[in-house]
Amino acid sequence: MRTMIWAAAMASALVVSPALAAEDQDKGDAEAGKELVMQGKPDEDVQPCQACHGEDGAGQAASNFPRLAGQDVKYMVKQMEDFASEDRANYPTMKGIAEGLSEEEKWDVARYYHEQEVDTEEADADSSVIETGERIAERGVPEEDVPACTSCHGPEGKGVPPVFPQIAGQHAGYIQKQLQDWEGGSRENDPADMMTEIAPKLSEEEMEAVGAYFNNVDAE
Ligand code: HEC
Ligand code: HEC
Repeated sequence: MRTMIWAAAMASALVVSPALAAEDQDKGDAEAGKELVMQGKPDEDVQPCQACHGEDGAGQAASNFPRLAGQDVKYMVKQMEDFASEDRANYPTMKGIAEGLSEEEKWDVARYYHEQEVDTEEADADSSVIETGERIAERGVPEEDVPACTSCHGPEGKGVPPVFPQIAGQHAGYIQKQLQDWEGGSRENDPADMMTEIAPKLSEEEMEAVGAYFNNVDAE
């Protein structure tokens, strides 16, 4: 319970001012973003995003390429900035790509992917595994002091932008990898160490279960 109150307090402290938020709502040009997604920037060594994330933003489960469709625009811009600054050093290829994009281009590609709609690609997992995942998502692991994932990521993991990303519909293997990367320290970009504190308290089985559960929840 204590953690949940703390999470809510952190969330309100981190939310940008209403004036700034309103300005962000119009930032980014999806059409310019689409061109970058399809063609990249050959002169700057920026590969076309669609090669990995797909034209529709579905990503690729087998390669741990994350789904981007529907994700919050500002959240995705932050991730690209974090790759460039190495706060998120868990995939060097994205560092090169993020460095090759101007700030405006980051908003353009993020706006494009935010606007895509794509069906969830279901993960193949036993119903008992999904049930364990659902329990962790909704109630946490009280004996390990792990708060419910939904207390920050919103009901069914649909996200509370711009700080808390949507994880509904995200690929199970990618979710599991992020938790492992926070535990191992190659991803250090979470505000107030929220995920850094949680990830090491989960067992491998729990990471797998919660990943499978969120994977099979429909994204927005
Ligand atoms: C060679 C494959 C590849 C290409 C090309 C690529 N990405 Fe990525 N991207 C990835 C992978 C893999 C990750 C996740 C890395 C990890 O954390 O394990 C990622 C992560 C991201 C994230 C963070 C997603 C999240 O949920 O945190 C964003 C945003 C992103 N990429 C945007 C882009 C954009 C925009 C482009 C094109 C300009 C692009 N990517 C090109 C492979 C790629
Ligand atoms: C105290 C609040 C809080 C709780 C509880 C929480 N998260 Fe998070 N989570 C965050 C924040 C904040 C981020 C964004 C970090 C960043 O900016 O890169 C995040 C990011 C993530 C991401 C990365 C998403 C992406 O696309 O890059 C995953 C996966 C994730 N959380 C899974 C979980 C799971 C599973 C649980 C429950 C076991 C959980 N989280 C509980 C705050 C929380």
